[in-house]
Amino acid sequence: MPTILTINGEQRVSSRGPMTPLVDVLRDEFFLTGAKSVCREGVCGACTVHLDGQPVVSCLVPIGTIGEREICTVESLAAAGEPSPLQQVMEEHDVVQCGMCFPGILMVLTGFLRERPHADRDEIKAALAGNVCRCTGYERLVDAAVALARA
Ligand code: FES
Ligand code: FES
Repeated sequence: MPTILTINGEQRVSSRGPMTPLVDVLRDEFFLTGAKSVCREGVCGACTVHLDGQPVVSCLVPIGTIGEREICTVESLAAAGEPSPLQQVMEEHDVVQCGMCFPGILMVLTGFLRERPHADRDEIKAALAGNVCRCTGYERLVDAAVALARA
């Protein structure tokens, strides 16, 4: 039975079974490849998307449990053709990541800074505790997020 999902403001119909992880539907069925499928155990954060504005690890969300909640992926951040303020500040700080961890980091920070817009450095670092970067590092992107929180 098809599953109706609301993804980045559009209704989409998935033909996958209800226990299919959301990350697989996003990537393989709808070609929204920003969310990465890495650990598939909920520990790396690379697959993070928003469900009704809350960051979730999409590898652990069966599509049959989503219902009418709105899914937003990293692709939605620049949907209007302009990078989001967080994306802009990352660019200004020359945050260069490989693309594996970064979409999840952007989604976690977007959700976190929406709720805590003036968070301090320690709070931002704590918010990223569930995002594993394997090859670059955190300092520069934390600098950027701190700059946005201070702006
Ligand atoms: S792939 Fe989902 S948390 Fe790692
Ligand atoms: S995993 Fe490559 S930059 Fe984070």
